[in-house]
Amino acid sequence: MATVAAPAVRSRSNRKVVFFIVFGLLTVFVTYMKNARIFDPNSEIAQHFAPVKWFAISHAFFGALGMLLGAFQFSNRLRARYLTVHKTMGYIYIACVFIAGPLALPMTTRLGSPSLVAASTTQALGWMVTTAIALYCIRTGNVAQHRRWMIRSYPFAMVFTVARLIIPLPPVMRLGIEGINTVVWSTIAAAAFLPNILLEWRAMAPRPTVQATAGD
Ligand code: HEM
Repeated sequence: MATVAAPAVRSRSNRKVVFFIVFGLLTVFVTYMKNARIFDPNSEIAQHFAPVKWFAISHAFFGALGMLLGAFQFSNRLRARYLTVHKTMGYIYIACVFIAGPLALPMTTRLGSPSLVAASTTQALGWMVTTAIALYCIRTGNVAQHRRWMIRSYPFAMVFTVARLIIPLPPVMRLGIEGINTVVWSTIAAAAFLPNILLEWRAMAPRPTVQATAGD
């Protein structure tokens, strides 16, 4: 039995590694593309963030750290072999969520439109609430639900990358602020419902029908 299951588990775990490497590279790419000239004080991007410089630096640091550590939390190998490392990184992830999330709010109120303020508030609340539930579940010994709520938490961080990948596309750029609002709200909505589809996928798969036996 174990000899049949092992390759499937390994290939799923390799797919996860490839996914997070590609996602990490995309995150570096979108961050660079938007902020390449941030250290030039005369650049548009430096001037954009100037009124919230320290909020932006702290938010970016804790947001990036949370996103990096969060990826490792999904490693079955790390959890199985180094449980203490998984726990320590988990608590740092939670701290990052509860620092980066609220720090986004003073930034967005100074930089964004009312719609973007509402979007950032929704995203930050979604990130914090799902993470808090994941923490509650593990503190009460419910490992299965802890895992499911972490799968609901991380996509709220992934909005950072996905939105920045879509916003620069010409059809979106042509729409101006309307385009940015549309992308930001759609990616937050996707972060809220896609994990549920992923989590329920296996339960929805058709089950083999039980054959009637001769004795029935
Ligand atoms: C609840 C989650 C989050 C919210 C609500 C949020 C919100 C924001 C907002 C409103 C800005 C200013 C954007 C602008 O005016 O141009 C911003 C900037 C930034 N955020 Fe976040 N963010 C979140 C999560 C993250 C995560 C997980 C990362 C990790 C990579 C991150 C990294 C950054 C960085 C590097 C900036 C400054 C540069 C840039 O906009 O590209 N944020 N964030």
